[in-house]
Amino acid sequence: MAKRVFITGGASGLGRALALHYARAGWSVCIADLNDLRGEETRKELEALSYSGSEMLYRHADVTREEDLQAIADELSQLWGGLDVLINNAGVAQAGAIEDVTISDWEWIININLLGVVRGCKVFTPIFKRQGSGHIVNIASMAGLLDVPRMASYNVTKAAVVALSGTLEQELMDDGIHVSVVCPSFFQTNLEETMRTTDPRMKKMMGKLLSSGKLTAEQVAEKIFTGVEKQQAYILPHASGEHLWLAKRYLPQRLYNKLFQRSVSRMKPR
Ligand SMILES: NC(=O)c1ccc[n+]([C@@H]2O[C@H](COP(=O)([O-])OP(=O)(O)OC[C@H]3O[C@@H](n4cnc5c(N)ncnc54)[C@H](O)[C@@H]3O)[C@@H](O)[C@H]2O)c1
Repeated sequence: MAKRVFITGGASGLGRALALHYARAGWSVCIADLNDLRGEETRKELEALSYSGSEMLYRHADVTREEDLQAIADELSQLWGGLDVLINNAGVAQAGAIEDVTISDWEWIININLLGVVRGCKVFTPIFKRQGSGHIVNIASMAGLLDVPRMASYNVTKAAVVALSGTLEQELMDDGIHVSVVCPSFFQTNLEETMRTTDPRMKKMMGKLLSSGKLTAEQVAEKIFTGVEKQQAYILPHASGEHLWLAKRYLPQRLYNKLFQRSVSRMKPR
């Protein structure tokens, strides 16, 4: 029987690239998204890659609604008899100075980027526990490990996803369940489209940063696929991000601040 993966936010960017990668590897793939047009397009692309015995599904689901994810978990339990890998990927971006960002924007991003991942873990863990196996993959960001100025709300949600993933790795290991957290730097996707910002210049800057990424979404997906196969707890696809993270942990604070400020100077709105 083909292995089975479910990916939230699978209609675009990284989620789509992951779906295509898993389909090429012979897996059955179910993607969920809010964007039905892109979801159906991606499902057709997946269908073209499917092997006999693998199945490609698209389902409309909003990660802010637990009942949407529960309906998919119930359906996949029935249809596929369970699941091997859950990828909590759906996410949005928000930028702005701390004094300008509204509480309603904070609530918006926390509900999607953090609670969306919490809901995915909550709903699918009982299936994994019943099976005695499963792998949860949470897409965070280097922003969850480093502290990019003027992106506090995004950083906070991603840092919380790192904490959630580490907690679940410890909590669920005796149930045969593995957890990986993925922390990429910038790469080209459609993330800018749904981004909220208090300063239009930040949106333009985000577009530039995404397009200047050193890896493509496909390359990031490939590194995630390999990291999951190796059961890596932390998957850091970009070498430059990993170097900065090591510098943050091991360099004296003042030295690290200088290094980091230089590397984020291109992110100042101009
Ligand atoms: N692109 C980057 O540079 C980058 C870097 C680090 C981390 N990430 C993370 O990668 C993940 C994927 O983002 P992407 O860059 O591919 O962006 P993207 O916008 O191309 O894809 C995100 C997908 O999530 C979907 N989505 C948004 N809100 C949703 C909701 N409430 N319910 C269901 N689906 C929803 C969108 O419709 C979209 O299809 C995000 O968690 C993002 O934070 C991206």
